[in-house]
Amino acid sequence: MSHLFEKLKIQTRFLLLRLARELKKSSHSLPVIRESKSLFAKEIKIPVFVSSVCTVALIYLMLFIVFGITWRSMIATAIFVAVNVILFVVQIKNKERAIIRDNDAVVLMSFLFIIAVLICQLVKEYSSPFVTPVAAFSLMGAILLSQRIGVLYAVSLSLVVAFLNDVRFDIFLVILCSAIAVITNISSIRKRSDFINVGIKVSVVNVLIITMFYLFDTYGISQFEYNLIYGILNGSIVTVLLLVLMPLFEKLFSRTTNIKLIELSDFSNPLLKRLMLEAHGTYHHSIITADIAERAANVVNENVLLARVGAYYHDIGKLNNPQYFIENQTLGHNPHEALTPEMSKLILISHVKDGAFLARKSNIDNEIISIIQQHHGTTSMYSFYHRALEENTNVNIENFRYQGPKPQTKVAAIVMMADSCEAACRSIEEPTAARIKDMVEKIINNKFIDGQFSECPITLKDLELIKNSIISTVTGIYHARIEYK
Ligand SMILES: [Fe+2]
Ligand SMILES: [Fe+2]
Repeated sequence: MSHLFEKLKIQTRFLLLRLARELKKSSHSLPVIRESKSLFAKEIKIPVFVSSVCTVALIYLMLFIVFGITWRSMIATAIFVAVNVILFVVQIKNKERAIIRDNDAVVLMSFLFIIAVLICQLVKEYSSPFVTPVAAFSLMGAILLSQRIGVLYAVSLSLVVAFLNDVRFDIFLVILCSAIAVITNISSIRKRSDFINVGIKVSVVNVLIITMFYLFDTYGISQFEYNLIYGILNGSIVTVLLLVLMPLFEKLFSRTTNIKLIELSDFSNPLLKRLMLEAHGTYHHSIITADIAERAANVVNENVLLARVGAYYHDIGKLNNPQYFIENQTLGHNPHEALTPEMSKLILISHVKDGAFLARKSNIDNEIISIIQQHHGTTSMYSFYHRALEENTNVNIENFRYQGPKPQTKVAAIVMMADSCEAACRSIEEPTAARIKDMVEKIINNKFIDGQFSECPITLKDLELIKNSIISTVTGIYHARIEYK
């Protein structure tokens, strides 16, 4: 039997090494975006130290309940907790530094772990350990925080469950394999109904591993049947927990997941539908901007889905006065001709505020609202400024600037550049590759000189990569247009 366990341990090690390689490959496409808005819309600062101590104290308590308070159990528990803490600290410190800076993420990480451990203990008391929904909590960790955190949860929680159940290796392996099976395939989860497939996958993996242990004579037939039923039931519990808890955690901890972004990118969304019907020019501009932004985000390893969805919604504020924006003036009539430059300026500025208001009213996530608010930064409206100068030479250009804020994230800066480049290149009469290149370079350089990127963590190398990507995408769109004329 010991030979068998040795073999299984080697297999588990091999599985974990393979998983680490897979994670390394996919680490640039984290499924999570951190939001500025915090728990219950108000920043609640819980120091990393406090949340960590609470989590560690809970594990201590659970293990003491199981093993009793003796010197031996205290030392054993201390070693177990230390191994877990080191596992988390090393990984987070080296690979997930952004999580340490994000208070909500740290609180969520501890909160999820504490709930998971409590549920494990509850399940142990009243049911079979094979029902323990570690896969659900690991997947929530992977979707809401990062894939790496999900794997850490899977390993740590499986160990906790095994320890709570007389250090049983079969329980550890069943729970770990089902959790890892769903985390490694996280990219296939694109909508909430995919959680049903997750549950099915968990049940199938449980059945396979439990059968394997039965064939190795670990259980008798009646125990095997009993474990099998609970292993299958585990899949359903995982699905229910994911469907119920995920939206709750998304809301409570202001997490914008890729699932939420995919839901927002659906064109049946009322705001996008309105844009299509009431401001067709803006709708078309937003779609092309989204293509440009998505490709640019890809070259600097930023969240491509956030860039795409942010671009879809960046100009929804134009819905209030679509005819005042050039892309919607199909009949050549420009209502600004009848307005003073100051009035025109106010209408243009208002599309940023109106956009944020409309998005908030429609429950669009804060991450998208930030992009809407930042997509013009504090850039100036030159055409209206020059018109105002013709009437009054004392006009200050500072009065003809958008009110900001400037882009605070790389994605917001990418949407800003994509937006301006799309609008400018659209207006080039004969868009040759050279003209498009000159125009994109001019726009990005001017924004840089104007200090629009001074508040976001974008580097000169990023700007160069983004510029080349925009030139290539825009050339593909507009240069092709004249070639086929
Ligand atoms: Fe805009
Ligand atoms: Fe725009």
